[in-house]
Amino acid sequence: MTFRVLLLESIHELARINLAAAGIEVELMDGALTESELAARLKGVHAVGIRSKTQMTAAVIEAADDLMAIGAFCIGTNQIDLDMATERGVAVFNAPFSNTRSVAELVLSEIVMLSRGLADRSREMHVGQWRKSAKGAREVRGKTLGIIGYGHIGHQIGIIAESFGMRVVFHDIVSKLPIGNNTQLTSLEAVLRESDFVTLHVPATDQTHEMIGANEIAQMKPGAALLNLSRGTVVVIPALAEALKAGHLSGAAIDVFPVEPKKNISDDFVSELRGLDNVVMTPHIGGSTMEAQENIGREVSTALANYFHAGGTTGSVNFPEVELPKVASAHRITNVHQNVPGVLSELNRIVSEAEGNVTAQVLATQGKLGYLLMDFDQAVADDVADKMNALDTTLVARAVR
Ligand code: NAI
Repeated sequence: MTFRVLLLESIHELARINLAAAGIEVELMDGALTESELAARLKGVHAVGIRSKTQMTAAVIEAADDLMAIGAFCIGTNQIDLDMATERGVAVFNAPFSNTRSVAELVLSEIVMLSRGLADRSREMHVGQWRKSAKGAREVRGKTLGIIGYGHIGHQIGIIAESFGMRVVFHDIVSKLPIGNNTQLTSLEAVLRESDFVTLHVPATDQTHEMIGANEIAQMKPGAALLNLSRGTVVVIPALAEALKAGHLSGAAIDVFPVEPKKNISDDFVSELRGLDNVVMTPHIGGSTMEAQENIGREVSTALANYFHAGGTTGSVNFPEVELPKVASAHRITNVHQNVPGVLSELNRIVSEAEGNVTAQVLATQGKLGYLLMDFDQAVADDVADKMNALDTTLVARAVR
């Protein structure tokens, strides 16, 4: 069987090259499609690649009888009805960490910008003002960087900051293995108190909603600077603006805002931070680089090809992540099933009736879904998959080639 993939929204060329190299037929489109256009185009399509504009609604997924997988060539998956995808046994893949390095590099460069007042100096030069002075300008070497949220981005920043000669402390709700001489402190307050720069790298959760407000800013060192390139809801912007105007903080670098314009190009950005000194503002571009786009193209297309040809689910957001090394002589099936009592005995009954000798298997469950990969040493995969597909509890079973 030849798998067919439809790639929408000008996904990076690398994705097409990767999929074609894996023997997959690829159709490309520049823009997004409306719900009805999409439903029509997905007939005979086994996977669709989208970015943020294509809405994979419940109706679209339900109508797409041949769809096995959705590749979100981006970070978020809000545009996909994940419940319906899971219910229909459609695996969804994304690339959440493909832009880690891009964010980390921007943070480090902004720490230097803030230390040297670069945003202001550059703005002055553009209106003809030459202001040569060392006043307030400092090296970052020897200063303390506090990282809140020591995940993929946080710890990458920790590594680079140390090679800059900075001392790095961090806070995370989870106990983390520190890289190099980075040090985990016992509380958020301790990091706020000790740091010359505080940079936020937490996800948007109830716990992180407005986690940096007037109280937390007051705990920061006088003259310190705050960076937020995580999510706009994490910082109370009016409180930050007050602290900057009062001179308690020396500067800020903000990439994400509680309310962001809906369109990529727009002239209606509003913020209390506009016009304040030593504030670097960027339009949510922390992870927006050509390299990140390329990484996304590579990671998601690799995940789709792996899912088609080996049944592996690494990088899936709605399936349990499962891998089983491919053995050339083995006959493999995958089975997506409802995670309900008794389901395994039904599946095993079919295998034993087919007299299949199982050479390897791996099973994992996630919420309502179970996912099974099974290898046989006889050519029984088609027969077993057909019989499994007749079970009410099996969402989809297939022989993998
Ligand atoms: P990650 O999931 O690898 O790390 C997040 C870390 O925050 C984890 O170690 C977690 O334990 C910690 N954490 C969670 N709640 C916390 C709390 N209440 N207090 C302290 N630590 C807490 O995520 P990653 O990839 O490092 O991304 C971090 C943030 O950056 C996310 O919000 C992500 O959406 C955002 N991001 C922004 C981009 C931009 O363009 N500006 C691009 C990429 C990511």
